[in-house]
Amino acid sequence: MIVTALTEMFRLRHPIILGPMGAVSGGRLAAAVSNAGGLGLVGGGYGDPDWLRRELSLASEQARGAWGVGLITWSIDRRVLDLALGYRPGAFMLSFGDPRPHAPAIKAAGCKLICQVQDLEQARVACAAGADLIVAEGTEAGGHGGSRATLPLVPAVVDAVAPTPVVAAGGIADGRGLAAALMLGAHGALIGTRFYASAEALGHDEAKRRIAAAHGEETARTRVFDIVRGYDWPPAFPGRALRNRFLEKWDGRESDLASALQTEREAYQAAARAGDHDTAVVWAGEAVDLIGSVESAGTLVARIGAQAEARLRAGAGACRA
Ligand SMILES: Cc1cc2nc3c(=O)[nH]c(=O)nc-3n(C[C@H](O)[C@H](O)[C@H](O)COP(=O)(O)O)c2cc1C
Repeated sequence: MIVTALTEMFRLRHPIILGPMGAVSGGRLAAAVSNAGGLGLVGGGYGDPDWLRRELSLASEQARGAWGVGLITWSIDRRVLDLALGYRPGAFMLSFGDPRPHAPAIKAAGCKLICQVQDLEQARVACAAGADLIVAEGTEAGGHGGSRATLPLVPAVVDAVAPTPVVAAGGIADGRGLAAALMLGAHGALIGTRFYASAEALGHDEAKRRIAAAHGEETARTRVFDIVRGYDWPPAFPGRALRNRFLEKWDGRESDLASALQTEREAYQAAARAGDHDTAVVWAGEAVDLIGSVESAGTLVARIGAQAEARLRAGAGACRA
């Protein structure tokens, strides 16, 4: 068993956190990860109240261990925060924005505050806000993120915020990645894309099939999907997605897309409802190379944990020190 500050904080069997993937990490997936010994986080995204009520109820009913919720900081207000806290999550992750206005309410509720950061300045702000745990997210990650790569970012954040524990995110999909994150000084890994291709994830089967078939070169960081969907993301955070026909058409022509929104948005929304991922987005990270099939979340947690433990016991494997 791997014991770290993360496993001790939440009494986990494995130092693994489910990324709170908006509209993908529902209550069932979060509970499955928690029941397998990781920390399941419901992906509350932009904070839709009906979605949150449904999925947080599921998580609180089904999870036998610690679970939590994650929200996109720049898009939420106090009302959404209180709604989520009402389900008594053990962990609350804030990402993409200044956590300071929301941190006191989260901590006053007795909830552990997790802040996901993309650079050193954000890490220092999160630390000052009282974060119990900081997730350093590298640019390899699926979904929105910054421009720093996981390998140099994680140890730099570890040094900058010590003794606050850090968890690595971005490009980790198996036990090798988890073991590497621990060697960088992280206390665990937060994993998104690998869990998207799981049986319990919300999201269309076709999206999961595409993740299992894709290679890292087929992902790109883009604002095209946010423009067509009408989300006003801060420019610092483009999102990494699988390349598809829609992206090829508008990549580099973002202002043309903004002018053609009236027709494009309707067509996009219809494609998303139909599961047509030649048009609709599949957020996914560079680690898609390591994903070959859709599996149950519990199987994934157990395998990633066991593989990391075996790697750490065996040392680097290919070399001797
Ligand atoms: C489909 C998808 C949706 C995501 N949505 C969110 C989100 O709503 N909030 C958030 O904090 N992070 C979100 N992320 C980022 C994850 O929290 C995490 O940083 C990332 O998945 C880690 O990298 P990986 O995908 O290589 O495992 C999302 C990632 C994916 C793949």
